Amino acid sequence: MPDMIEGENVKGLMEAAREATQVLLGASSITVVAHIDADGVSAASIASSALSRADVPHECRFIKKLDDAEVKQINALHSEGVWLVDLGSSAISKITLPICCVSDHHSVIEDAGGNLKRKLGQNDLGSFMERKVHVNPHIFGIDGGQSLSGAGVTYLVAKSMASSNASLAPLAIVGAIGDFQDSANSKLVGLNQSIVQDAVAEGTIEVTKDVRIFGRESRPLARMLEYANDPTLPGLTNRYTECKRFLDEIGIAQQSENGWRSWVDLDHEEKREITSRLAGRLLDYGKGVKSIRRLIGEVYLLSEEERRTPLHDAKEFATLLNSCGRYDRAEIGLKICQGDRGDALKTADDLLRNHRDTLKNGITWVKKKGVIRRRSLQYFHAEQEIPETVVGIVAGMLLGSADSNEDRNQAERIDVDFKVDCSVPIIAFATSVDDKNIKVSARATRELVLKGLDLSIAIRVASEKVGGSGGGHRIAAGASIPLGREMEFLDAIEALIISQLGTN
Ligand code: C5P
Ligand code: C5P
Ligand code: ZN
Repeated sequence: MPDMIEGENVKGLMEAAREATQVLLGASSITVVAHIDADGVSAASIASSALSRADVPHECRFIKKLDDAEVKQINALHSEGVWLVDLGSSAISKITLPICCVSDHHSVIEDAGGNLKRKLGQNDLGSFMERKVHVNPHIFGIDGGQSLSGAGVTYLVAKSMASSNASLAPLAIVGAIGDFQDSANSKLVGLNQSIVQDAVAEGTIEVTKDVRIFGRESRPLARMLEYANDPTLPGLTNRYTECKRFLDEIGIAQQSENGWRSWVDLDHEEKREITSRLAGRLLDYGKGVKSIRRLIGEVYLLSEEERRTPLHDAKEFATLLNSCGRYDRAEIGLKICQGDRGDALKTADDLLRNHRDTLKNGITWVKKKGVIRRRSLQYFHAEQEIPETVVGIVAGMLLGSADSNEDRNQAERIDVDFKVDCSVPIIAFATSVDDKNIKVSARATRELVLKGLDLSIAIRVASEKVGGSGGGHRIAAGASIPLGREMEFLDAIEALIISQLGTN
C-alpha cells in the first residue's frame, strides 16, 4: 500500500488498523456488529474469518441502524468487546464495553471522529488502556465514499492481523461494488484498487474490461439489457420486447441447447457487435461519450466461483447479499461469504427472486403513485408498500434511470407521465414496521455531489431537527424520523440542499 496519496494519510489509516488488531487479538470474546447491506455482510464475513483464524471467540449480529436503542443493547452484551463494521463511526463514543473497534467508512462528524482519533493518537498507552480504536478513512483524508468500503476497512484490519488474510480480498471487492464505489470511474480506485491488486496477486480475482451491466453471468441477454440503468440504454432500458428485437435484428441467438444465453456465453465477435451497437445508440440519442465510458469498464470476477452463477461476478454477488441482508436473512449471506454452497445458496436463490420482484413491484408502485417535485428535491412516500430496507434501492434506481433537463428526449422517456429528474436529489419515505418510525432514504447523482451536495450532512442535521437520526455518504444517506414529521423534515432538508448547492 502506498503511504501517501495526495493528502491522503494512508500510513495513519494503516497504523489505526494495527492498533485495532492489537486490541481485538487481546480480547477474550468479541461481538461483530454489522450493517445489513452487501457491504455490511461482506465486512462481517471478513471480520469473522479473521477472528476465527486468530482463535478469538466471537459471534456476528446484523442491524438496520445504530440508534440509541441499539447502542444500549450493545452495551449490555456479555462479550468483552464489540467490533462494529460498516457502521459505528457516529456511536463509538457511546459504547461502554471494555473493548470497541470500529471499521467504518461513513462520513464522520469532525468532532466525534477526528478529535477522538487524535486523542488516541497522542498517547498510545492511553489508547490501549481505553481499548477503543476508530478506523475510518475519512479521519485520514481518504474518501470513504469512493476509495474504501466498510468491507475494505475491515479487510485492512484483517490483513494487519495476518498477511494470509489477503485471501479475504474478494469479499472486500464485493463490498465496494455493493456500495457502487466503482461507478464514478467505471472501475475501483484508490485503496480499493490496492485491494484488487492483492486479490489479483492471490489469483482470487480476475479483472477484465467489459460492459458493466448487471447480470452478465446469470441473466438472459434481453433481461440484462432491459434492466441496464448506468447508463440507461435509449429505447432498450425497461423495454423487454425491444431488447429481444434489438438482439434478433443483429442476429444474436438468444437461446442455445443449454437454455437462455447470458452475456458470458457470447463469443468475442458477438460481444463486440452488441457493444458497438449500444455505443452507437447512446451517441445517436445524444447521450455523449461520457455515457459510453460508463457502459464499459472494469468488471471483477471471483476466480474460485463457478462461471454463470451470481457468485462469479462481484456485482451479482453483492446483489445476492443484499437479497439476504435487506430481508432479515443476513446470516444466509454470511454463510455464503464463508463458502456454504449448499442449503444457504438455495435459500439465497429464492431470496434473490424475491428481491427482484420486490424491486420491480416497488418501481411500478412509485410510477403509478408519482413522485412529488419540490423546488430543490423530489420525494415519494411508500408507506408500507415498499420495505424500509429497500426503499433506498428503489429511489436510486429511479434516479439512475432519470433524464436530466439537458439531454431529456421526450420520445424516449420510459413513461411520459412519470417524471424523475436527475437535476435534484430524491427522498423516499417508508413506514417502519417494527418501531412506528419513518425510514428515510436519500439518493443523489455524482453531478450534484460535484456541485457541493452532501446528503450525509443534510440528512443528519434535518433528521436531528425533527427528533430523529441519520447519516451515510454524500451520494446516498438514510435516517429514521418520528412518524408524522415528514413534511417538517422535507422543509429542513430542502433548505440545507439549497444552501449546499448555492441555489438561493
Ligand atoms: O451502509 P453502507 O455504506 O454500506 O451503504 C451504502 C449504501 O448506499 C449502499 O447499500 C447503496 O445502496 C447506496 N449507494 C447508492 N448509490 C451510490 C452509492 C451508494 O445507492 N452511488
Ligand atoms: O438505508 P439506505 O440504503 O438508504 O442507507 C443509505 C446509507 O445511509 C447507508 O450508508 C446507511 O448506512 C446510512 N444510514 C444511516 N442511518 C440510518 C439509515 C441509513 O447512516 N438511520
Ligand atoms: Zn458501506
